[in-house]
Amino acid sequence: MNISVVGTGYVGLVTGVALSHIGHTVTCIDIDEMKVEKMRQGISPIFEPGLEELMVENTEAGRLFFTTDHLKGFSKAEVVYIAVGTPEKEDGSANLMYIEQVVKDIAAHVDHDLIVVVKSTVPVGTNHYVKELLDDQVREGVRIDVVSNPEFLREGSSVYDTFNGDRIVIGADHSEAADVIEEINKPFGVPVFKTDIKSAEMIKYASNAFLATKISFINEIANICGKLGADVESVANGMGMDKRIGSMFLNAGIGYGGSCFPKDTKALTQIAANIDHDFELLKSVIKVNNNQQAFMMNQAKERFGELAGKQAAVLGLAFKPNTDDMREAASIVLCEQLLNQGVAVKAYDPVAMDTARKVIPEDVQFVSSPEEALKEADFVFIVTEWQEIQEIPLASYIKWMKTPVLFDGRNCYALKEVRKHSIEYHSIGRQPVLNYEAVGNVK
Ligand code: UDX
Repeated sequence: MNISVVGTGYVGLVTGVALSHIGHTVTCIDIDEMKVEKMRQGISPIFEPGLEELMVENTEAGRLFFTTDHLKGFSKAEVVYIAVGTPEKEDGSANLMYIEQVVKDIAAHVDHDLIVVVKSTVPVGTNHYVKELLDDQVREGVRIDVVSNPEFLREGSSVYDTFNGDRIVIGADHSEAADVIEEINKPFGVPVFKTDIKSAEMIKYASNAFLATKISFINEIANICGKLGADVESVANGMGMDKRIGSMFLNAGIGYGGSCFPKDTKALTQIAANIDHDFELLKSVIKVNNNQQAFMMNQAKERFGELAGKQAAVLGLAFKPNTDDMREAASIVLCEQLLNQGVAVKAYDPVAMDTARKVIPEDVQFVSSPEEALKEADFVFIVTEWQEIQEIPLASYIKWMKTPVLFDGRNCYALKEVRKHSIEYHSIGRQPVLNYEAVGNVK
């Protein structure tokens, strides 16, 4: 089929590239000329494993195009996917400004029947709103169907997820439109779940809210385990063997970040508030997450008392491994807090240094290796569990740091291993390893 995708952020670009890879002719439209030019040359604007290779392959095969020209982009389209951002407004609700602009562009340039697929995460009712706007604005005689097709891909593994997803949700008012979208997606071989539009919109929010709840839940359990002397990893393993609970998303840490969970959980509490429903559970999930981001800072204050004048290493800046995305990354809050306490900070990330520079306070010194960050440091915060960081030998901390005091926000090291080293190690929901004698300056 002939498909246009508007918006080449994570969702739009991956969707466009994947749809072209299964044989459709896809035109990706974006207003950013420089970005479009880069994508034409096969350069991905985001770091996403496997994406660039697929971009090049499908561009060369003549199935994938990039343009800033809406007229060109829409002229042959049978289906238009909307994948523009829905950023957070001050009150936590979703800003639909970019979606409204796409509606205007479609209305101005399309003179044939069309199915519009909304991929962006939008509040319940938005697809019907989009349909109303389009019906008002399109040329007479043009029939537009709107289909909700929320996206569940994870950053860092979005290409894999697109071809190996658990489900494709299709929400439509008319079964003919739903059938077309099902047919488009058939080559992915992913199970399809068809429902009404509002339920499809809600599935996205409810899924993200549920996953965020799972994380905040295990983080609360971790904090209790830490105080009681239990081990959260054992607890999570034991819980996860119950199929009703499941073992995934039970990794305790310093909370969730990224472009989805923080925004979508807030938006859902706002959606509920709009109909006078106080979503207390979800509000607690958000509160627990905010507290959790400060967990290592509290550990460090408790450990050292006074932090001013100390030197810290921060390892990992991206909100999670395999991405350069810094949105809502715990590292931002942690770096600010460290600087506020008078700590000198050296930070390292294998991939996200460029994006980090835009959002991390400039007093942080960016360095190009873990060794440089750790050299002469009084303590280290391990913030993102990149493989490269998990593979730093424990002996290196002893070799490079002034005092090998580790605060591991992602439980990267097995306690059994840590205990073999002359190291001081604090993690999440597990017993600290305090090799007093070797480290020497522990209170
Ligand atoms: C998430 C959803 O997984 C995806 O379905 C949705 O479409 C978009 O939001 P993403 O934000 O890319 O995807 O990342 P994900 O891998 O889900 O992790 C989100 C955050 O939760 C990260 O900060 C991660 O470190 C944290 N997390 C995840 C935990 O702290 N513990 C876990 O067990 C899992």
